[in-house]
Amino acid sequence: MIPASDADRVHVRAPGKVNLFLEVGAAMPDGYHELATAFQAVSLYEDVWATASDDFTIEVTGSVDTSGVPLDDRNLALRAARLLARKTGQAGGVHLHVRKGVPVAGGMGGGSADAAAALVACDALWGTELTNAQLHQLAARLGADVPFSLHGGTAVGTGRGDELSAALARGRFEWVFATDAEGLSTPDVYTELDAHRERRRTDIAPAPTQPFVDPDVLHALRAGDPVRLAACLRNDLQAAALNLRPELAEVLELGESAGALAGIVSGSGPTVAFLCEAPEAALDVRVALAALGRDAFHAHGPVPGARLLPA
Ligand code: C5P
Repeated sequence: MIPASDADRVHVRAPGKVNLFLEVGAAMPDGYHELATAFQAVSLYEDVWATASDDFTIEVTGSVDTSGVPLDDRNLALRAARLLARKTGQAGGVHLHVRKGVPVAGGMGGGSADAAAALVACDALWGTELTNAQLHQLAARLGADVPFSLHGGTAVGTGRGDELSAALARGRFEWVFATDAEGLSTPDVYTELDAHRERRRTDIAPAPTQPFVDPDVLHALRAGDPVRLAACLRNDLQAAALNLRPELAEVLELGESAGALAGIVSGSGPTVAFLCEAPEAALDVRVALAALGRDAFHAHGPVPGARLLPA
């Protein structure tokens, strides 16, 4: 293939995310769970370059291990490009180059960010000029977290997590993300949560009928107060992820004893997110994790959603 010049290709960057709060309700008939979550987009990014082509093809590189990423039609970025083409009657295809900076199958929405970036990139490349509402609608068909990667910032998600409203957040929050060499499958973690609740139904609270985000989370965000936010971080999927990966308990403990305000499993895991008061504390946490042989990334949030960058 002849390398494309900068003028022929479109570059889009989309962020990964952490769930600051995630309350999971009961399973719905379609297998999805009703939930209430507060998302924050963080400065670990997926970069996608789109070049016009006859077919739909993809290559994946990255600063994280990309060996688990499918290159066939299971790939969410390819599915996003095909969906947009089908919906807009676009005749041609696209070659996508994805450079991953979000851990793969880590609970940080890396695949969702690829899909969001591919939608924005192909919309620009093909000149389809969809509205934000139309892009959001396509995003929600691709996955529950895809709309948030388009939106970015800090937001509350309800329904499957795809019905979004912006949340006000002041300032900048410092995060350290401890990755795991092996990812976890999101459906497996939800299934384990259901089984965990069933097994322990006498000693833990049942699935809430109407999940909602603790107002303390929104107050802490509005105040830009990491200490207050740390006190109300919560993730219902954490118990399930810990059942599947008991060694994550040691990671959580280590990060907190190294100076993080709080640690929490990110989404369905196995990445563990540590909220820190300042960049210096984040460095201490990274050093402690490195001593345990854990790769860790320092990032901050909130950051914008999927956006076009100059070629
Ligand atoms: O939508 P997405 O493909 O990201 O979801 C992956 C899986 O996570 C779903 O197939 C489902 O098993 C689970 N999930 C869920 N309830 C949600 C979101 C995801 O059960 N609200």
